[in-house]
Amino acid sequence: MKKLYIETYGCQMNVADTEVVFSILGKVGYERTEEISEADVIMANTCSVRDNAEQRIWGRIEQFNLQRKARRGVVVGILGCMAERLKDALLESGKVDIVAGPDAYRKLPQLLEAVTDGHPQMDVILSREETYADIAPVRMDKNGVSAFISIMRGCNNVCSYCVVPYTRGAERSRDWHSIVREACDCWEQGYREVTLLGQNVDSYKYEDVDFAKLLTMVAEAVPGLRLRFSTSNPQDISDAVLEAMASHANICHHIHLPVQSGSDRMLEKMRRRYTREWYLQRVAKIREYMPDCAISTDVIAGFCSETEEDHRDTLSLFEQVGFDAAFMFYYSERPGTLAAKKFEDDVDLATKTRRLEEIIALQNRLSLESNRRDVGKRFRVLVEGPSKKSADDLCGRNGQNKMCVWADKGHKAGDFVEVEVLDCPQAPLLCRLCGE
Ligand code: SAH
Ligand code: SF4
Ligand code: F3S
Repeated sequence: MKKLYIETYGCQMNVADTEVVFSILGKVGYERTEEISEADVIMANTCSVRDNAEQRIWGRIEQFNLQRKARRGVVVGILGCMAERLKDALLESGKVDIVAGPDAYRKLPQLLEAVTDGHPQMDVILSREETYADIAPVRMDKNGVSAFISIMRGCNNVCSYCVVPYTRGAERSRDWHSIVREACDCWEQGYREVTLLGQNVDSYKYEDVDFAKLLTMVAEAVPGLRLRFSTSNPQDISDAVLEAMASHANICHHIHLPVQSGSDRMLEKMRRRYTREWYLQRVAKIREYMPDCAISTDVIAGFCSETEEDHRDTLSLFEQVGFDAAFMFYYSERPGTLAAKKFEDDVDLATKTRRLEEIIALQNRLSLESNRRDVGKRFRVLVEGPSKKSADDLCGRNGQNKMCVWADKGHKAGDFVEVEVLDCPQAPLLCRLCGE
């Protein structure tokens, strides 16, 4: 057996893809190692979404190259979005042997064969069909409780700031039969939670199955399995999806609903296809169906031509919605995107950073308020294992995706328990086991 080491960057889809790569290469004699120093093949599954993500990977490539120089025969491969975006530029660095885009992973065995001649290899062809539906992923999670299932690939939106449609290609949905089967397999392997993944899950469509129907089918096929999904698009999330969530006890009440900006002028420039008013209406609808539903978001500070007024619109939207959690970024221009071609990246770094910090400070308060509202409430929690801070405590997430911690009374990872929230000086929620 040869040893394969993979570092994974970027979104959950990349984690799911790395699991596919381990599966494909496992079949041709590569076993996984977590020790870079003993690896025959060193790979990074990369992200291009912001410039600092790419800079970090260039730094790793330098490190990989040291291994490559120190131990003859070590092969370095770059996979994923950065491979797709930079193509030859990666090979030209002279530090990389294989460049493989997100739709080229079935070719990895051939690429690895060919590279042993000392010739670098590249496959960055994007596909309209590839979904890796038939490949059983080799799961990488540490606790064996929570698994990712990729339900679609690519993206057909053209948000003007975003590189993903260029690195991942056109949107395609995976055969629903294989998704339901994989959820059943997960259950049999001991997993108790799966997250269905896509850049825009609401546009899932295979034969006559849309996302609401898919959710319902998976929820009903494996009633013991807890279901999550990501990412929802404010434009497309349907009442049918909310209905499915509200009517199945095993679908978590948490929606990740990236807003990007609270200003209509910015949303239009971003090509987000909804307005602030529409977004607020969707939030109201979610809460109508599920008063206890957590809502998290993504936001970009300092997009092209953003004024203080636009920025205040984002702050006021955050305040109005009261998000439970948020991923917050400042705008990073991506070559080749519509925004890079049409607009000037004219908000200076100091202003971007300051606006981002204001959003972060606000969200910290909102997260705390959200946690305070939970004190006294009871939640069903999936046990993940010992808490980070103390071996005497267990931890796990509730349906709203908040981490809970309580005194260990002998439960195991994969058990569901009921807890009551006692306090929350900050995350996680401090709880007690109910019935104690
Ligand atoms: N498909 C998801 C998002 C995928 S990218 C969606 O549409 O919501 C994850 C997040 O990265 C985005 O929601 C956005 O907030 C952020 N992002 C994308 N491109 C960016 C850029 N050029 N600069 C800064 N943040 C960006
Ligand atoms: Fe990017 Fe927009 Fe597609 Fe999300 S929906 S991946 S932000 S283009
Ligand atoms: Fe990054 Fe590609 Fe995901 S750019 S966020 S790894 S789709």
